[in-house]
Amino acid sequence: MDWKVSEREETGDVLVLPVWEGKNKPANSALNGLPRSSVINTKSAFKSRFDGKAGSKLSVWGEKCRVVLVGMGDLEKSSNKIARDAGAKTMSSLSKKDGTNLTVRFTTGWNLESMLWFIEGMMLRDYAFVKYRSKDKKEIEEQGEWSLDIQASSRYLKELSAGITRIVGRVEGVHLARDLANEPPNYLYPMSYAERAKEWAKDKPNVVVEVYDWDDLQKKGMYGLINVGKGSSRKPCMVLFTLNPNVNSNARSPCIVGKGITFDTGGISLKPGASMDEMKYDMHGAATVFGLMHALYATGHKERVRGIACLAENMPSAEAYRPGDVIPTYSGKTIEVLNTDAEGRNVLADGLWKSGEFDPSYIIDLATLTGAVVVSLGHEATGLWSNDSELLEKVHQAGNLEDEIAWKMPLLPAFEKEMTGSKIADVRNLGKSRWGGANTAAAFLKQFVPNRNFEEDGEQIPWAHLDIAGTAWGADTNAMVGHGATGIHVRTLHTLITNP
Ligand code: BES
Ligand code: MN
Ligand code: ZN
Repeated sequence: MDWKVSEREETGDVLVLPVWEGKNKPANSALNGLPRSSVINTKSAFKSRFDGKAGSKLSVWGEKCRVVLVGMGDLEKSSNKIARDAGAKTMSSLSKKDGTNLTVRFTTGWNLESMLWFIEGMMLRDYAFVKYRSKDKKEIEEQGEWSLDIQASSRYLKELSAGITRIVGRVEGVHLARDLANEPPNYLYPMSYAERAKEWAKDKPNVVVEVYDWDDLQKKGMYGLINVGKGSSRKPCMVLFTLNPNVNSNARSPCIVGKGITFDTGGISLKPGASMDEMKYDMHGAATVFGLMHALYATGHKERVRGIACLAENMPSAEAYRPGDVIPTYSGKTIEVLNTDAEGRNVLADGLWKSGEFDPSYIIDLATLTGAVVVSLGHEATGLWSNDSELLEKVHQAGNLEDEIAWKMPLLPAFEKEMTGSKIADVRNLGKSRWGGANTAAAFLKQFVPNRNFEEDGEQIPWAHLDIAGTAWGADTNAMVGHGATGIHVRTLHTLITNP
């Protein structure tokens, strides 16, 4: 999407006017530059029909420009969510058949923040995965991009412009994460993700991408990844991102770890057939890591940040790992595999342990880890666990700001006890019953979060776990998304990292 900011003078093919409830006439500058007939019609719509109630929308046709009135509801009740959702819903209601030159004009009641939220909603919603839909792809190419003229009073323009530049970088990151997650599993597999990461890093001087391939994993003893991935002809790998490797070499920096199961059949503990196709999204954690790295890069983040993607395809085959296996991991701890479908935790075990080598300020992992978290929270919130109350609160707050709710969940000692109660290995990859399945999964992960400098009696590195199984796709209440992957938590983590 092309964009610019300007004063309220000219209009494009479509003029979007988001207005707060309770006006019976448009603000003075709202109709500048429109033909006389449109001015008359729009004023009359305000008088008789349009009341600005939340969710209301009215189109006023005109010879030169179509005016779209968007009801914002009560200004007193306005919030980030209301503004973002309204922007997104407006976007989804527009058609390029009316022309691609879009003007959004903000008048009475709007401030810098709320304008930015509205625009961010529009930009986030301007996405479709049409790569493999021949007709749509052609149509979109023919119609071209939207070009958006954002208009407000002159005193806002400078800050609006800076704010939108930042939003654009974040939205690119979100859309990149969606692209990766939406990609079918025959195209996106561990080493093809790695190739994309390398390609992305190529012309960026302050970015390093390193790939541990099959041979490297063996040399390093990353048997969590190896075991989950060895049943597939597409071999597993680990991708390590570093943004700004050379700055501030003494300061600690965050490390974000993502589950990247490019397809999860369940392995020998095979999943039932219904909706198995959705398991292409089982790499959304890794997609978010990649998208986040891009968002940070694109918004000119100056500090160092690391990302680790743990990539494998979980397939049943003669080579596959099995229930009953005991597998070593990078940490040296052993895992008793009781269910090969609890694979995400096995690959994350290696990623979490690896992150300790960077002596990070904190570690956050993202994973489509359990069906149980979807039972708990539905599609409305991510599950959030942490060993550090300050980090817990910060992630939660960042999620609230971004309308990406991360709901606090308990990391209880009893769950840890359950997961370390194996008779033949250090940790078991399955709880003793179904109950609390998202919590036992989190308690498993905690066993692989290193202490500072790997000291046996040292303090554990602050760590938070985000179970995004319910939020990575499938929420029809998420106005930012038409269909498919959401790009969840690129913005949450961008905000967390850039506003320490
Ligand atoms: N990727 C799945 C979790 C999942 C299920 C995400 C449904 C989104 C929607 C994960 O690897 C898995 O299979 N988890 C098992 C764990 C169980 C065997 C302990 C689950 O949730 O059933
Ligand atoms: Mn699984
Ligand atoms: Zn999985």
